[in-house]
This record gives sequence, C-alpha cells and structure tokens, in this order.
Amino acid sequence: MRKLFFIPFLFLPLTTMAACSSDDTPAPQTEQSTTPDDPDNPSGNSKTLVAYFSAQGHTQAVAKRIVELTGADIYRIEAADPYAENPYDDSDRIQNEAYNDLRPGVANLPDKEIIAQYDTIFVGSPCWWHQPAMVVCTFLEAYDLKDKVVIPFFTYGATTYLNESMQKIYKVTPESKHLPETLPEDLNPDDITIPGPPDDAGIDMPGSANGTEAWLRRIGIIK
Ligand SMILES: Cc1cc2nc3c(=O)[nH]c(=O)nc-3n(C[C@H](O)[C@H](O)[C@H](O)COP(=O)(O)O)c2cc1C
Repeated sequence: MRKLFFIPFLFLPLTTMAACSSDDTPAPQTEQSTTPDDPDNPSGNSKTLVAYFSAQGHTQAVAKRIVELTGADIYRIEAADPYAENPYDDSDRIQNEAYNDLRPGVANLPDKEIIAQYDTIFVGSPCWWHQPAMVVCTFLEAYDLKDKVVIPFFTYGATTYLNESMQKIYKVTPESKHLPETLPEDLNPDDITIPGPPDDAGIDMPGSANGTEAWLRRIGIIK
C-alpha cells in the first residue's frame, strides 16, 4: 500500500493546530507564515547548543524558547540553496530531498572546533514530507557527535510522521546518546514511502514555544 499522497497545503491549518496543542496556551505566532529573523550563530558560551532549521518561524520559536530557559547557545542552519519564501512552493524539491535521502548543502556550517565544545545539542526541524528538513541531516553528518547528547524536536502539521522524522535524526547520529533514549519501533524506517502503522504514541514533543518549558521539565533538562 502506498503512503497517502500528500497535498502539502493540507498541513497549513494543521500546523496552526499543532502550535496550539491542548496543554499549551496559544503560541505567540500568527496564523500566517512568518519568516525566521536574522541567522543565529553559536557563541561558544554554553555547553548546550540549540541547532535548528526553520522556514516559517515555528521551529525557530521553540528553539528560542529553549535558549531562554536553558541559556544554551543557538545556531540556525541555513540552506546553501535557500527554499522559497513560502516552502509549499518548493514542495516537490522538499519531497525529492526527503524521499531520496538527499543532503542539501548548508550555507553556514560552524567550524568543527566550535561544535566539539558542546555536550548537548538540541536539533530542531519542521517535519517535511515525514522527515526532517534534509539540511539538518547534512549539518549533523558534518561533525563527530560521538558521546554527545542529541535531543531532537520538531514542529509539524500532523503528528502522524513524527516518529519517522525522529528516527532519521537518530539514524544520522548513530554514536550519540539521545533523549529520549529510545523511540517507538518504526516498522519501515528505511522506506518512508511505505506506511507503517501509526507509531507516534508516547513521543513527547512541545506543540509550541509555550509548551516548551513543561517539555524541558518532563525530559529532565530543567527543574
Ligand atoms: C513542503 C512541506 C511539507 C510538509 N510535510 C509535513 C509532513 O509530512 N508532516 C507534517 O506533520 N507536517 C508537514 N509540514 C508542515 C510543517 O512541518 C509545519 O508547518 C512546521 O511547523 C513548519 O516549521 P517552520 O515554521 O519552522 O518552518 C510540511 C510543510 C511543508 C512546507
């Protein structure tokens, strides 16, 4: 059976729902897309880094909230070949990158020495065609992340593909420790075009910037 054919604009209203999940007060985001503001670059002041990609601002809002709450450094991953201002206009490109496991270039990779100084790296991405934005994988594979703690977070339009997206982060950081340590089993981790049963139950994820603090407490990052 083929995975449902996606009409990406269907994700638009769902994204807004995800940004206002039940345990959160409404996210400080407009219902319209927002463009992430200026690039963020790691300063090297903390042992924790929040590295994220965001096209429309939702993932950036969560990333910035993590920084506010933890004092982590922040780094926004930028694609060498930028996506359309409205990424839905680039849906075919994004699907091709996801389905063929491509590694689009990153415009602003930090030096290896800078990344080496972090113990913990939050990795944020939108869920794009049931995968992370593939530039996030390009970033992760550019470094030796052995023994670092990698904590993925996603914003998404529907929770259905969260596990597949998470699995990809774990797969490209095989020598890292992860939070959570394990994920629900994904029956088809290698072929994202073939659906498995729903398998996202139990994955803890902030639905919005406003849900981030409770999430960080639940996963033990802050008290
Ligand atoms: C091309 C495209 C594909 C998408 N595919 C998915 C998907 O497979 N699953 C999902 O839950 N959301 C999907 N979305 C919705 C995004 O994950 C959601 O809007 C996300 O919050 C955007 O994050 P950003 O604002 O940081 O860019 C897609 C969005 C776009 C533009």
